[in-house]
Amino acid sequence: MKVLVTGAAGFIGYHVCERLLARGDTVIGLDNLDTSGDVTLKATRLSRLKAAPNFGFHRMDIRDVKSCRELFDGAKPERVVHLAARVGVRAMASEGPDYAETNVTGFLQVLELCRQARVEHLVFASSSSVYGAGTPVPFSEQAPADRPLSLYAATKRADEMMAHVYSHQYGLPVSGLRLFTVYGPWGRPDMAPMLFLRAMLEGRSIVLHGEGKMRRDFTYVDDAVEALVRVLDKPPVGEPPYRVLNVGGGSAVEMARFVDLLEEQLGTKAWVELRPAQPGELDVTCADVTALERETGFRPSMPLEQGVAKLVAWYRGSEG
Ligand SMILES: NC(=O)c1ccc[n+]([C@@H]2O[C@H](COP(=O)([O-])OP(=O)(O)OC[C@H]3O[C@@H](n4cnc5c(N)ncnc54)[C@H](O)[C@@H]3O)[C@@H](O)[C@H]2O)c1
Repeated sequence: MKVLVTGAAGFIGYHVCERLLARGDTVIGLDNLDTSGDVTLKATRLSRLKAAPNFGFHRMDIRDVKSCRELFDGAKPERVVHLAARVGVRAMASEGPDYAETNVTGFLQVLELCRQARVEHLVFASSSSVYGAGTPVPFSEQAPADRPLSLYAATKRADEMMAHVYSHQYGLPVSGLRLFTVYGPWGRPDMAPMLFLRAMLEGRSIVLHGEGKMRRDFTYVDDAVEALVRVLDKPPVGEPPYRVLNVGGGSAVEMARFVDLLEEQLGTKAWVELRPAQPGELDVTCADVTALERETGFRPSMPLEQGVAKLVAWYRGSEG
C-alpha cells in the first residue's frame, strides 16, 4: 500500500511511519518541521525513517496548495494519514491565526486533495479535548462535544465537521481518531510525561496544575499506532463513509499518580509545585473505547506501570 503521512516528523507520525514501513508499505512523509516544536528531535526521528528504502520525505507545508497538489499528483497515495497540526490546548490568542491556518484551512486543503485524488481512506487525528465542558465520564463519541475549552479543541472539532461534509457530499471515506494523551519513546517534550521525566532527572521542580487532581487517560504510543493502523486498514462502509472513534487507555489516572510511577522508575523524588488549573484544560479525560473495539477488534491494553517503565528505559538508553 502507498500511504501519505502528514506530520511524519512528529511524535505519533514517526511511530506510524515506522509501523507502516516495517510491514512493507511505501510511505510518503510530509512535514514542514514547524519550529513551534523541538526541531532537533524532529530531525532525529526523520533520519531514522530515512534509513528505510520504502520511505520518501517531502519538507512541505500543508498550507502550500501548489506544492501539495503536485505531490498528490505525482505520488498518487492510496491512503492518507493526516497528523500535521499545531498542537496544545494552551495556545494563546496571538497564536490563534496559526492554529486556524494549519488545523482548519490546512486540513480543508488535505480533504480537497484526497477528494480529487480519490483516496481510498483518510484517517486524521482529532483529540480528546473536543469533548469540552460537562461531558459525562467515560467520554462517548455520542456526546455533543459542542463546548470546547480551547482554541485547539475548537479547530479539531471543526475538522471533524468538515470531514463529515466531504464524506457526505463526495463519498470520501474518512475516519477521525480522538486521541487521548499519547506518551512513549520519542515523545513530545512539551507534554507532561516528557516534561516531568526530564525535570526530575535534572533535579528541577515540576508543576502539577489542578492541584495534582487533574485526571488523564494515558495511551501508550504503540497502542495508539496499533489502533490507527487497524482503522486505516478498514475504511468505513456506512452512509456516509465517516466515523469518529476514541483512542484511549480507557481509565482516568490522577497526574499525581503518574508522577508516583516516574518516581518509582527513576528512584528519585519529584519536587512538585501545585498550581490551579489552567484555562483550556479539562479536569478529566477518559475514553469509552467500545466503538474502537467493535470496529477493529482492538483496545489499548498497555498498563500504565509498564508504559512508564518502557518510557524511562528508552530515555535512559537514548541518553547513552
Ligand atoms: N500526542 C497526543 O497526545 C495527541 C493527543 C490528541 C491529538 N493529537 C493529535 O495527533 C497529531 C500528532 O500529534 P503529535 O503529538 O505527534 O504532535 P507533533 O507536534 O509531534 O507532530 C505534528 C507534526 O506536524 C508538523 N506540522 C505542523 N504544522 C504543519 C504544517 N502546516 N504543514 C506540515 N506539517 C506541519 C510539525 O512539524 C510536527 O512534526 C496532531 O494532529 C495532534 O493534534 C495528539
